[in-house]
Amino acid sequence: MDQIIIRGGRALSGQIPIAGAKNACLTLMPATLLSDEPLTLTNAPRLSDIRTMTELLGSLGAEVSSLQDGKVLALSSHNIDNHTADYDIVRKMRASILVLGPMLARDGHAVVSLPGGCAIGARPVDLHLQALEAMGADLELRDGYVHAKAPSEGLKGAVVEFPMVSVGATENALMAATLAKGTTVIKNAAREPEIVDLAHCLQKMGAHISGEGTSEITIEGVERLGGATHPVVTDRIELGTYMLTPAITDGEVELLGGRLDLVSAFAEKLDAAGIAVTETDAGLKVSRKNGRIQAVDVVTEPFPGFPTDLQAQIMALLCTADGTSVLEEKIFENRFMHAPELIRMGASIDVQGGTATVTGVERLKGAPVMATDLRASVSLILAALAAEGETVVSRVYHLDRGYERVEEKLRACGADIERVNT
Ligand code: UD1
Repeated sequence: MDQIIIRGGRALSGQIPIAGAKNACLTLMPATLLSDEPLTLTNAPRLSDIRTMTELLGSLGAEVSSLQDGKVLALSSHNIDNHTADYDIVRKMRASILVLGPMLARDGHAVVSLPGGCAIGARPVDLHLQALEAMGADLELRDGYVHAKAPSEGLKGAVVEFPMVSVGATENALMAATLAKGTTVIKNAAREPEIVDLAHCLQKMGAHISGEGTSEITIEGVERLGGATHPVVTDRIELGTYMLTPAITDGEVELLGGRLDLVSAFAEKLDAAGIAVTETDAGLKVSRKNGRIQAVDVVTEPFPGFPTDLQAQIMALLCTADGTSVLEEKIFENRFMHAPELIRMGASIDVQGGTATVTGVERLKGAPVMATDLRASVSLILAALAAEGETVVSRVYHLDRGYERVEEKLRACGADIERVNT
């Protein structure tokens, strides 16, 4: 299994290109199931989660070709001959549930295993099912699988009111509604940039959608959708993660393709912590304003609030801040698994339920640590870049799910980092 070894203490400087968003790509890919015409995605990230979705779509009979070294994905679903998403693939990645809405909408039936994914809390799919049921689907949970059937005349438009904001459930409902008969209104919809990106792609395919990016999305169902070519939106989580590299090492890095509107709540916290973020022609430039990082409090929220997917990373930064920061995790339970690992590196963190209190220390120290989930693993990399001495991060397969060529990108900015196969 691969390990990443980092010898910390170097100030990072240079440029880091930001890839297309994993989470956008993982919902754009299943959109192919809505049409028998080709869908081409450009600016795709090269990640193991994308390979898992490729495998899943392939198992259903979709064709997915990876072109230009994986940056372009050519998808076609003209020949779907299997409507069962098997446990063996679905368990690897929770986003697999996103094939349910499109398959059901176009072909009237689908069987999808209940998903797995990162071990960050219970993460049920009841809201996905609630939305499809409101559109007339008949759902049965049997042997760990959702067996779904649409009425013989197809799904019908409905008012779907979510009791809480869910990115995935909004995506499933949005995709299904594009082919439902009549009007669907999704209330309390997620407003994430990945939802807006999905809506834009569906619009290119011929869907009638309005209100994307607000908490009420309206969809007028159409008979059929066509093909499209669509660039995947910039990965705001990869962007935010790499924005922390100059902050934590006291360097200066330009994030190529970075957009402030994608990370505004995060950038506000960086500003309060004493980090300057400026827009450039090519993206965003980040450096410390002066001296030590200041403590800040963080509460995770649905977009446009502070993203849960950047909580572990900002915690790494705050471990060396001047003062005490309080981080409240409001989206997922059990999402502080990075805290004990950061403590191994000398951090002072007290976790009580969904709240972590971080008291800054002068310097972190290298240690052997273990990645526990995707975002936790990159927070350990960030901490290691700033730490004195050597850190060995094991179980880095978590990292490869969401960060392409992490060692290359960091090494290009002066990091002492290598991947070894043990
Ligand atoms: C997506 C992102 C993930 C991010 C999360 C929140 C993808 C592939 N993943 O995950 O990186 O951390 O949004 O920004 O896009 N919930 C239910 N019932 C449901 C669905 C969700 O109770 O049917 C709960 C979840 O347990 C969680 C909250 O709703 O507490 C938000 O989850 P959701 O927004 O659905 O996250 P995902 O779409 O799984």
